[in-house]
Amino acid sequence: MPAAGFSVSSGAAAGSHFEAKITPVVILSCVMAATGGLMFGYDVGISGGVTSMDDFLEKFFPAVYRRKHETTESNYCKYDSQGLQLFTSSLYLAGLTATFFASYTTRNFGRRPTMLIAGFFFIVGVVFNGAAQDLPMLIVGRILLGCGVGFANQAVPLFLSEIAPTRIRGGLNILFQLNITIGILFANLVNYGTDKIHPWGWRLSLSLAGIPAALLTVGALLVVETPNSLIERGRLEEGKAVLRKIRGTSNVDPEFEEILAASHAANQVKHPFRNLLRRRSRPQLVIAVLLQIFQQFTGINAIMFYAPVLFNTLGFKSDASLYSAVITGAVNVLSTVVSIYAVDRVGRRALLLEAGAQMFVAQVVIAVVLGLKVTDSSDELGRGWAIFVVIMVCTFVSSFAWSWGPLGWLIPSETFPLETRSAGQSVTVCVNLLFTFVIAQAFLSMLCHLKYGIFAFFSAWVLIMSIFVLFFLPETKNVPIEEMADRVWKQHWFWKRYMDDDDVDDDLKKNTNNNKGAVNGV
Ligand code: BGC
Repeated sequence: MPAAGFSVSSGAAAGSHFEAKITPVVILSCVMAATGGLMFGYDVGISGGVTSMDDFLEKFFPAVYRRKHETTESNYCKYDSQGLQLFTSSLYLAGLTATFFASYTTRNFGRRPTMLIAGFFFIVGVVFNGAAQDLPMLIVGRILLGCGVGFANQAVPLFLSEIAPTRIRGGLNILFQLNITIGILFANLVNYGTDKIHPWGWRLSLSLAGIPAALLTVGALLVVETPNSLIERGRLEEGKAVLRKIRGTSNVDPEFEEILAASHAANQVKHPFRNLLRRRSRPQLVIAVLLQIFQQFTGINAIMFYAPVLFNTLGFKSDASLYSAVITGAVNVLSTVVSIYAVDRVGRRALLLEAGAQMFVAQVVIAVVLGLKVTDSSDELGRGWAIFVVIMVCTFVSSFAWSWGPLGWLIPSETFPLETRSAGQSVTVCVNLLFTFVIAQAFLSMLCHLKYGIFAFFSAWVLIMSIFVLFFLPETKNVPIEEMADRVWKQHWFWKRYMDDDDVDDDLKKNTNNNKGAVNGV
């Protein structure tokens, strides 16, 4: 095979190893910023459990409640309700809209204020949800939380990728995903406890989101702004001072110069979104968009949102369903730690390819077992088979957690050049939330119609995405963030054709005295 997997040119470009200590301020800033993931994860994890609770269904979705307790309804269709799915999915719809406003605030005001706005939306959303009296109030709360997710998911991954020293960038960025998984697990545990509190357990579940919301808000007040954002906004001295502080050395000139050059290019671009559509942005754009679609079509959120409902469908009692969701949640967290360790060592591609094989096998096995054992009317899976299915679900979740979960967020946040980074990230978040919405809205209906075939459907997608990774995804491990164009895209067997200078952005052309050589660089 030609150099499909080719990554980094061996002749390292100047400045690729900037002096940088791993300072407490970097670690603390990253830990605090990453709490944005905690909130996202809590929202992902909480709705599945809540929607399987009788008190909640009886109050807001009486028709589903009745259907759930009718013996004549097909097992696979008990929860098939557009309204119920809208409760879960409205958050993502709001989030994908908010991200375009968030792109503006990250670029013009910085990463830190954007995180603060997110915290504010979260807090108001939690109040609406916890106090909900009727369905509209519940949905308004979810929409406000969605706005928070749009702002947080825009700012946090960028913040982490920019503030981290290159050699541990992958690991630090994955703190975001680690927090997502901790948030999901926390939500699963809360649901497991509140399910026993009648009739307001669900209210407690929704209100406890206040904890991650408060953490993010306080965190955003305490962190430093990224040097890239300060320099991009012309605050050069401040940017340099922050760089010295976070790198723990006064020798920051090479990195400062590189960010400055990137920010000159960034400032000449007046229309970042239009710039994204240029030929030169094609590789990053295509990869960012496809990565999000693929991440959601692994089928992960079918499990994360609806594990309790799914296990219930398979004949588990309410308690056992929530308990099994806790197990998958814990596997999700632990496997994400594997990724933090491995991502800057074995690289992004190796993780994605290994996980592709593991996810494929697990899903095919689940489809076969369910196909043979669960029919419309009989849900007697039997204890042995039930445990086997939970193990297979864990096998699937673990491989997702060290691959597509974190890398779906990491890779786009580190591959766009500064001039399109905010816009690129907002497209990333938007596409991610769009497809999260699609899965949230469609899964219960798909389960009703495709039955066990739904897992075969997802396994086919896993195959397609693994082939894509094999041929089209370059390795970005250990490449400084502002050197991606030269060291990754211009070296890749396929994408390099998009990197010639014949389609340089108009804004750049006007502003660079037509200095072809400098822009082209090859
Ligand atoms: C995805 C979420 C998913 C979570 C599961 C994230 O990377 O974006 O949609 O629920 O991983 O851990």
